[in-house]
Amino acid sequence: MRRKAIVANWKMNMDSASIGEFCSKIQDMTIKDDVIAGICVPALYFTQVKTALDKSKIKIGAQNAYFEEKGAYTGEISAAMLKDAGAELCIVGHSERRQLFGDTDEIVSKKLKAVLSKEITPILCVGEVLAQREEGTHKDHVKKQIESAFSGIGKEDAKKIIVAYEPIWAIGTGKVASAEDAEEMCGFIRSILALKYGDIAESILIQYGGSVKLENISELMKMQNIDGALVGGASLEAQSFESLVMKA
Ligand code: PGA
Repeated sequence: MRRKAIVANWKMNMDSASIGEFCSKIQDMTIKDDVIAGICVPALYFTQVKTALDKSKIKIGAQNAYFEEKGAYTGEISAAMLKDAGAELCIVGHSERRQLFGDTDEIVSKKLKAVLSKEITPILCVGEVLAQREEGTHKDHVKKQIESAFSGIGKEDAKKIIVAYEPIWAIGTGKVASAEDAEEMCGFIRSILALKYGDIAESILIQYGGSVKLENISELMKMQNIDGALVGGASLEAQSFESLVMKA
């Protein structure tokens, strides 16, 4: 049985006061044994959250990492630095990074390997834009993203990766993919991974992301190939995050 991973992606939101309040509300929250709960925070606040949730089972992560170990890369943060700060998760290849900050498939693949090399669990995001879905090229696009990211990754590392299928047209739009469409794509991703890794694909966690909220999480989580959710907007409020984790 695969576990379910519910991970908050705060993006560029929150400040130290709201984070303090958020953490004090969720520090004692119950997390079922078959659920992984995580929060990917802006790097600047990583240590604040890590310290505040020190006794909790919630995993704290970052939203991005640079692939080089160290050096003259102004403004960047390496996977080694994240590890040093205690990161357990790191989002890689989020569509906002791909669309706004030039993260190509090649860069995503390097970042994925850098994060894995530091024993941080990567959350690899893939997903199509609306035009691709309408043209019917969404599967080809996602297949290419998956094949590129997993190229050169062996079975042992493949098992450690969490994949997040996030159709870009559903992110922050309030327009959630139907549970059936999300299931179809998560199943499709698993079938691509099965071609490369055989049975290992059955143990890889595949999340859905895109306008997940209390009203739709239960339906999504019932699906066979959906192993949790990456949540943006609905993760910014403590009560909402806690309820999403409870419903996983
Ligand atoms: P959303 O964001 O839940 O606000 O749609 C999800 C994501 O971008 O990971």
